[in-house]
Amino acid sequence: MSRPRVFVTRLIPDQGLKMIQEACHVDLWPEKTPPTRSDLLVHVRDIDGLLCLLTDVIDGEVMDVTGPRLKVISNHATGTDNINIPAATQRGIPIGNTPDVLTETTADFAFTLLMAAARRIIEARQVVYSGAWKTWDPLFMLGIDIHHATLGIIGFGRIGQAVARRAAGFEMSVLYYDPAIEQVAASSPPEAKKVDLDTLLAESDFVSIHTPLNKQTYHLFDADRLAKMKPSAILINTARGGIIDHVALYQSLKERHIAFAALDVTEPEPILPDSPLLSLDNILITPHIASASHATRQKMSLLAAKNLLAGLNGERLPHCVNPQVYDK
Ligand code: GLV
Repeated sequence: MSRPRVFVTRLIPDQGLKMIQEACHVDLWPEKTPPTRSDLLVHVRDIDGLLCLLTDVIDGEVMDVTGPRLKVISNHATGTDNINIPAATQRGIPIGNTPDVLTETTADFAFTLLMAAARRIIEARQVVYSGAWKTWDPLFMLGIDIHHATLGIIGFGRIGQAVARRAAGFEMSVLYYDPAIEQVAASSPPEAKKVDLDTLLAESDFVSIHTPLNKQTYHLFDADRLAKMKPSAILINTARGGIIDHVALYQSLKERHIAFAALDVTEPEPILPDSPLLSLDNILITPHIASASHATRQKMSLLAAKNLLAGLNGERLPHCVNPQVYDK
């Protein structure tokens, strides 16, 4: 029997890639940057399976060009906002993603941003390297305390809860907003308190975003919501750039309506070189690396490979975001 044909849209860590190469005929995109739309449309023709990244827009057109052989789309990411899920479901194509394996690493990074922002780490390094460190000074480089502060978490799923566990070690008060959660599992941080969004914004010293991007969360942080935050507040986003309206964020930071933003995700990505956000001194932007540890990226590649191979074999995907395809 001939091996299934798959398109892998970028080099992924070797453990997952090896699994796929052992079982499939692999067309591996060789560039460091994603395939363009036209490249994508050429390479997906007549494949049985697609392994894509969050940088690839996979819509109904891609699925149709691919043709009726397409059995599975495996996203090498937890978020699947780059894929038109209803279009895939309508065509009976299961979509896989990579949750769980990146939870702790992403939570580590959200906390890293929180701490770097609160204690002005980037600025402090700059002071040393520019020769501006003259002496110890009681009024020099003062930041804000993390311990005993209030942390507001937007989206209390796996990653939000993992951030709350870290906050417990700093004896922070944790508030969360998540309309999808009625009752949090007993294993979750005991001290976290469910509140409405306005209360969370008004009371939090740090606000950390951990919700997927969808119609409900697109520009959730608009001018009105940003205005409800404390002027001393720090906003952290490791979820998706589109959750914050960047024009409103720029105004809010510039006028010091909030104190600081630490973003691992932007809209678009990469951030445009002329983005006004880059001109501000009260922002820290990193290049979407929250899950980027060696171990976690290997685990993501393995899970993405398992999803792909399960779909090719006609089996249920270990992690499927549209299980409705199995109801048919
Ligand atoms: C990363 O942002 C992911 O969704 O996996």
